[in-house]
Amino acid sequence: MKLPGNYTTTLPRPNKVDDLKYGEESTFGRVAWRSGMDRDKRIKHDGFVLKYRAFTNSLLKDIDPNEAFHKSNWPHWVKQLPGPLKDKSFSDSETVLKYWLDALFHNDQHILVKQWSEKYGRNYVVPTPHFGWGKTPSLSYFLIVCNPCDHQRLAFNHVKKAPIYDGLNYGQSFLGHYDVKEWRQQRNHLMQPMLPLSIFSTMFPAIEECVSDLMNRIGKGDESTLFYGSGKPKKAFNIHELILDTTFKILMRTLIGEEDNFVNENSQSIRWALQRPDFADYEATGIIKQWCRSLLSRAQANKDNIGPLMRELIEIPALYKTTEPGHKGAIKQTHDNLAIISLAGHDTTGSTITFCLMELCAHPEWQDRCRVEIEQVFDQIALEKRGINYADFHKFENLTKCINETLRIWPAVPYGSQREFEHDDYITDIKGEKVTIPKGTMFMIPNYCQGRSTQLWGPDANTWCPSKWSGFADDCSINFKNSNPQFSARNPESPRFHPFTRGPRDCFGKNFAQAEIRMVLSHLLYNYEFSLAEPSKSQYLQNAEQIAWQMAGILKPVDGLWMHITKKSVKARL
Ligand code: HEM
Repeated sequence: MKLPGNYTTTLPRPNKVDDLKYGEESTFGRVAWRSGMDRDKRIKHDGFVLKYRAFTNSLLKDIDPNEAFHKSNWPHWVKQLPGPLKDKSFSDSETVLKYWLDALFHNDQHILVKQWSEKYGRNYVVPTPHFGWGKTPSLSYFLIVCNPCDHQRLAFNHVKKAPIYDGLNYGQSFLGHYDVKEWRQQRNHLMQPMLPLSIFSTMFPAIEECVSDLMNRIGKGDESTLFYGSGKPKKAFNIHELILDTTFKILMRTLIGEEDNFVNENSQSIRWALQRPDFADYEATGIIKQWCRSLLSRAQANKDNIGPLMRELIEIPALYKTTEPGHKGAIKQTHDNLAIISLAGHDTTGSTITFCLMELCAHPEWQDRCRVEIEQVFDQIALEKRGINYADFHKFENLTKCINETLRIWPAVPYGSQREFEHDDYITDIKGEKVTIPKGTMFMIPNYCQGRSTQLWGPDANTWCPSKWSGFADDCSINFKNSNPQFSARNPESPRFHPFTRGPRDCFGKNFAQAEIRMVLSHLLYNYEFSLAEPSKSQYLQNAEQIAWQMAGILKPVDGLWMHITKKSVKARL
């Protein structure tokens, strides 16, 4: 294809819908996002139109969105609730569906959910595709629940997941399991190694070893770069990559019990593949399958030396047989469990650590405050000649404020959870009246828009400000301060704050994550000082939200996060 001027490209470019396979590489999303192109322009762009057509052709053959979502077909509850389908600024229902899918393809659906929650009020309805678990693909309504009381009550009452998780490469894991009884059995079984006071706390020395490897890598500086445009020869590190590699190794070394060499060989490619959850992305799917097969066969060949979670995972197929229609078999289930643990067990924690460091760079006074308390705790530990333990984490009060604040405005799982009504129930409309929602309706209990809601957090909701927190507590929440020191065995949850969603189907790894985040951050801040490097610094200053994309459901700085890291010279002072 000829480009303007003298440039030519050899890149294959689809020119017909049929040439484009859904999931194919496209730089369109990146360009649109970075250029600040508005959503109206985005949905008219050729790149999106091709993708949308490929998606709907493969999934929703012969379904006309304007017909499916025609006013005359709205169920009673849809008529009673606000949402873009009723918004006159959209020309028709298909345009609304395109907005929703465009945001999904562009990895910024969390921003659209937030914008619409501000526009339409606390609970609203959007149009969406419906498929998975053997169901015939169709178009359906999706209830977005932003009223904090409804959010809390519905999350507790309806633990059944929406079937759409099945559209992902790890969709039949226990995270996405559709059969509630079977999910409960699996979860109870797998929970054993995650209980903080038993097996899990014995893993602290192994976590510290991985963190110490990270310190050495930073100290050597081999993985840094000198940007040509920078005024001084100051090394810049893509801290996100270093952190993700470390959290991946921590997970593999402790809970799975894998060897470092094997993990090192695969870390980059498997972490890349896990971000591409689409079945149509054959390359990623192949890498994930190969990884899960290898993990399983290596564990079966070396049963005496595997990690505690791996031990439980390989027992599951023999213990629980499902009769749920659409289930793809025991092997697929084990692979999906391994894939989801590989993803959720490192990426969420890694992103939280990275975003917290990013904010600490932008707020050096908090970096100093954290360092002062960390030095006090570490000096005490050195004096007592022991390793770090649970009770020490409780002394990191400022660090905890910073972590909570990061989880509030940079929640690693911005969509929260996607569920299905197990029975008829109600939600409240804008006037506080009850609206009955029928069994089988899909709903989302989002995190991102709740953490940034000005109604819930005040006018500065979008600003990172740790002093909002009184230590471990959200003023409107459980107070961890006066509880026993094993705070991380609990979910830091309040009506307006729920980064790990809500029990009983909350995050399975929350204890592990809470301890790991403190372990990594405390060592990093004890040893090094951090400041933002270009291009991340300018991106942060222009519009920090553009740094974070929702990939495979997880919020992350997709193009990396660049920092200058220098050895801490003097003890931190305030
Ligand atoms: C800061 C770190 C983390 C955050 C913010 C986080 C958040 C969440 C959220 C919001 C969910 C609900 C997802 C959904 O319903 O679709 C979830 C579920 C889950 N998380 Fe995490 N997570 C974190 C770390 C971890 C870690 C370290 C692991 C594993 C070691 C893990 C494993 C899981 C699993 C397996 C589920 C599914 C639980 C179930 O359905 O019973 N997560 N997490």
